Amino acid sequence: MTTPQALSALLRTEWPIIQAPMAGVQGSALAIAVSEAGGLGSLPAAMLSPEALEKELIALSAMARPWNVNFFCHRPPVPDEQREAAWRRALASYSAELGLDPAAASAAPARRPFDAAIADLVEPFRPPVVSFHFGLPSPELLARVKGWGSVVLSTATTVAEGRWLADHGADAVIAQGLEAGGHRGHFLSEDLTEQLGLAALVPQVAAAVRVPVIAAGGVADAAGVAAARALGAAGVQVGTAYLLCPEATTSAVHRAALASEAARHTALTTLFSGRPARGIVNRLMRELGPMNPVAPAFPLAGGALLPLRAAAEKLGRGDFSPLWAGQNVSGCRAVPAAEVTRALAAGLSPR
Ligand SMILES: Cc1cc2nc3c(=O)[nH]c(=O)nc-3n(C[C@H](O)[C@H](O)[C@H](O)COP(=O)(O)O)c2cc1C
Repeated sequence: MTTPQALSALLRTEWPIIQAPMAGVQGSALAIAVSEAGGLGSLPAAMLSPEALEKELIALSAMARPWNVNFFCHRPPVPDEQREAAWRRALASYSAELGLDPAAASAAPARRPFDAAIADLVEPFRPPVVSFHFGLPSPELLARVKGWGSVVLSTATTVAEGRWLADHGADAVIAQGLEAGGHRGHFLSEDLTEQLGLAALVPQVAAAVRVPVIAAGGVADAAGVAAARALGAAGVQVGTAYLLCPEATTSAVHRAALASEAARHTALTTLFSGRPARGIVNRLMRELGPMNPVAPAFPLAGGALLPLRAAAEKLGRGDFSPLWAGQNVSGCRAVPAAEVTRALAAGLSPR
């Protein structure tokens, strides 16, 4: 087990509190606010074009504080025309209801895995921390990232993944409990029954690896941070509790859902991207079933939903939107991210 002090020293932050990278709902503004407050702010890069990524990296590196940039490491899918067609058929009645052309194809929101071209773009900025979701990049790419001096983090959803990450070069392991909002970070097995809740996962990963363990999933306040510490985590990574902050770009329907009773019911779903992710149960999840096998492979499922999502959101409805959230929305407050960060830090034992 390592200490919060050791993790803070590794990350060069005041506190071992990481704002989770959250693709689609935030940019550098949230990351900068958290880093300036003494935590580690994160930029999710998976859905950014190279131009947008470069702009965000310029903004982050203007700051004297450390920051994190996050990439995905999935294998791009082989498009499957039949499955795409079946998916569009499954959505046809919704298109008709909203007066949309069911055949109108929309490209899925791009989610590009980390590759050599992105490494070329990122290298001049030498990010203090680089985190990965869905495993690690190839040994050559990982050696490049470590070679330019970045501390490397990645997510584990099982003890075996935690051990694998530590053995393959992660400087710290993010133990993502089943409570967590957004995409599951699994990469060794797709069997969701192998994944553990936070209170079971953190102590077992901490016992299995020598690097610091960062608890993620359902941590929403000082008590959650103290509990994660008691379980053997050196620090925390918190996503959902930042979603209502003014620095986040969370959409109006997503904010409304987070602030409503509906947020008490989340589920894992593959409907919005093709990979399991936790979000607030909405109409699409209720009517198609959250894990419907017709949804195309990650990240292609999202394409056919885009027109539906836009049309419903115009009417103020989140029926077809991914309303990502973890199981604990009690920390969601529309207050500056610095305030959320300080409230979490109150859960750390006196340093
Ligand atoms: C809206 C949203 C988007 C997310 N996107 C990413 C992402 O792009 N990269 C990543 O590594 N994790 C992502 N996650 C997962 C977080 O890293 C983290 O595991 C999770 O937020 C922790 O659980 P909590 O939401 O209960 O705090 C996302 C989570 C949410 C809520």
